[in-house]
Amino acid sequence: MTSQQYFLGIDVGTTGCKAVLVDSTGNVAATATSEYPLSTPRPNWSEQDPEDWWAATVASIKGVLNECRSGAGSVVAVGLTGQMHGATLLDSTGGVLRPAILWNDQRTADECAEITRRVGAKRVVQLTGNPVLTGFTAPKLMWVRRHEPEVFARIRAVLLPKDYVRFRLCGERHTDVSDASGTSMFDVADRRWSDEMIEAAGAKRSWLPEVYESPVVTAKISADAARLTGLSEGTPIVAGAGDQAAQAVSAGIVKDGDVCVTIGTSGVVFAAGDRYRVEPGGRLHAFCHAVPGKWHLMGVMLSAGGCLRWVRDTLGEPECSRAKSEGRDPYDALTELATGAPPGCEGLLFLPYLTGERTPHADPNARGVFFGLTLRHTKAHLIRAVLEGVAYGLRDPLELIRGLGITMDSVRVSGGGARSTVWRQIIADVLGCPLDSIGEAQGAAYGAALLAGVGGGTFDSVADAANVVRVTDQTKPGPATEVYER
Ligand code: XUL
Repeated sequence: MTSQQYFLGIDVGTTGCKAVLVDSTGNVAATATSEYPLSTPRPNWSEQDPEDWWAATVASIKGVLNECRSGAGSVVAVGLTGQMHGATLLDSTGGVLRPAILWNDQRTADECAEITRRVGAKRVVQLTGNPVLTGFTAPKLMWVRRHEPEVFARIRAVLLPKDYVRFRLCGERHTDVSDASGTSMFDVADRRWSDEMIEAAGAKRSWLPEVYESPVVTAKISADAARLTGLSEGTPIVAGAGDQAAQAVSAGIVKDGDVCVTIGTSGVVFAAGDRYRVEPGGRLHAFCHAVPGKWHLMGVMLSAGGCLRWVRDTLGEPECSRAKSEGRDPYDALTELATGAPPGCEGLLFLPYLTGERTPHADPNARGVFFGLTLRHTKAHLIRAVLEGVAYGLRDPLELIRGLGITMDSVRVSGGGARSTVWRQIIADVLGCPLDSIGEAQGAAYGAALLAGVGGGTFDSVADAANVVRVTDQTKPGPATEVYER
C-alpha cells in the first residue's frame, strides 16, 4: 500500500496566514491559521511587517503538520498564495527596508495620476489590463521615491507578500503571472514584465522577481526553512497565485465562461477566459489566471460582507445578542429578519460604498447611502435594502462581463456571505442567474494546495485538479427576479 501524499497551500492574507494540508483526493487533512496585526500609522495608510508574515507562516505550517502527524514527510509540494499588490522592499542583503505597503493603502493618488500622465490612460489599460490604481504596486514605488528617498536609494528587490514568504522558504525571488498582473508593471497580454511601465514608475527591472506560470515548480524548501517549519528539505514549491486567482481555482473556476462570486469583507466577481480581453474603460480588472495561458476578468467591490458587518454592529441589537444566547449565528438572525420586508423594500435603496469603491466605480471618496426612506420603513427594510444593495453592486461588474460576450449558465458562490440562504436567494434574483454552492470551501489556501498538486504531478492540469471541487446545492432565481429587473 502506498502512503497518502499531501499538498500544502499557504495563504499570506491580510489578517493572518492560513495553511491547508490537502490529500491527493482533494480532502482537507488539516488547517491552521495564525493572525497578525495591520497598522494604519496615518489616515489612508495600511502597512504590515513582513517579519509577521514569516512568523505566522512558520506557525501555521507547524500547526498543520502537528494536526496531521503523517503529513510532514508526505508533503509532495507547497503552493503559495496571498494578498495581492503589496510592496515589500528589500536591500542588497535581503533585509526589509520599511513596512510593506498593502493592497488597501490609499496614499498614492498623485503617483497614479503621474504614471498615467507619463504613459497615457489608454495605453496603460492596453498594456496592463487596468488603470493604475492606488492599491497597486508601481505607484507605491514612486511614492517611496518622493517621500522616503533614503529608503528608495537602497531598494534592490521588490516582492509581493506571498513572494516574500517564498524568499524566506527557499532564498529565491520568484513570482507568478496572476500576482504580477496586479503590479501595474506587468504586460498582462504577453505575460511578462513591461519595461515601459517599469520605467514610468521609476523602478528597475532588476528589482523584480522572475515570473512563472502558477503550477510550475520553481524552487525547493531550504535546509533552514526545513528546520524551522518541519517540512522536508528539498520539498518543491510551485509559483502559486494571487489570492483571487487561487480562490477561483478552489471554486473550480478554470474554463472560459466559468464565473464565481465571493462574498467576504469585499465582494468579487471573477470570470475565467481563454483569451485576453479588457473592458475598454478599464472598469474591470484584466489579469492573468492561475491556469497557464488563460486570463480572467474581475470586479472587486470593497464592501460586500463588510456592509452586513456594519449592520450587525450598528442595528444588530437585540437580535444578535438573542441569537448568540440561543447558540445561533447572529448573521442568520439578521438575514432572517430581512425577510419581513418585500423584494425592492418598497422603494428603499442602499448604495454599498461604505469604504469607497474600486470596480466598476473606482472612487475612494464614494460613500454609502440609504435613499427613499419613508415612515413605512422598518429595520427589516433597512437590512433587506443592504442585502439588495450589495447584490446590485455585484451585478454591476457582471453586466460588464456579459457585455464583453461572456455568457454563463450559472455562477458559483463562496465566502462567508454565501452561507446565508436568504442572501443567496436575493443575489440569484438580482443577478437573474442560478447560484451554485460548493460546500465547505477553504478558499485561496485550498486553491494554492491544488496548484501544488499539479506541480507535484498528482493532477495533470489545473482543470484536472479543479474536478475535485463539487457543487452541493443550487439557488435558482425566483419570482422576485422580475421586481429586481424593474
Ligand atoms: C485583489 C485584491 C484583494 C487583495 C486582498 O485585487 O485587492 O483580493 O489581494 O485580499
